[in-house]
Amino acid sequence: MSPGAIADVGAVSTQIRRILRELGVEPEVVRRVGIICFEGETNIAIFTKGGRITLMVWDDRVELFFADNGPGIEDLELVRRPGYSTAPDWARELGFGAGMGIPNMEKNADTFVLRSRPGKGTAIRATVWRKGNERQGSSAGPGA
Ligand SMILES: Nc1ncnc2c1ncn2[C@@H]1O[C@H](COP(=O)(O)OP(=O)(O)OP(=O)(O)O)[C@@H](O)[C@H]1O
Ligand SMILES: [Mg+2]
Repeated sequence: MSPGAIADVGAVSTQIRRILRELGVEPEVVRRVGIICFEGETNIAIFTKGGRITLMVWDDRVELFFADNGPGIEDLELVRRPGYSTAPDWARELGFGAGMGIPNMEKNADTFVLRSRPGKGTAIRATVWRKGNERQGSSAGPGA
């Protein structure tokens, strides 16, 4: 809804990736959580007036919660379909609007729960399991 908020897109996922690296979370988990966070924060910036992103780190998993008071989503099946987008022109001009954000979140999450009330807002919970990701990943930076 607000082209102004788009300038900050990426700030949350950058910060979250840094926190996870500092906590010693597996690089592959950091990579996947970073992608999920980026898509979620982008959608909050484009489609709502604001929201809250919560990161929880456990021994066996990382969880991300997204909550906003935006317009909500009428058809939860439709928005999960690759290519579906209602992005406004200003967002498309910036390269958003491929309709790949939610599919990309689902692909990178081990569990993905999308809830919404039209007119009220949207909430997403995404979990990435840490076990089995210990030795994967090629995106390890220095000290990661
Ligand atoms: N937080 C939200 N509140 C309301 N509607 C949303 C929200 N997030 C997504 N949507 C709706 O779901 C559609 C699909 O979202 P998705 O992220 O997959 O694609 P996009 O944002 O349109 O394009 P892309 O992410 O590829 O740049 C959006 O176009 C919008 O209609
Ligand atoms: Mg999107």
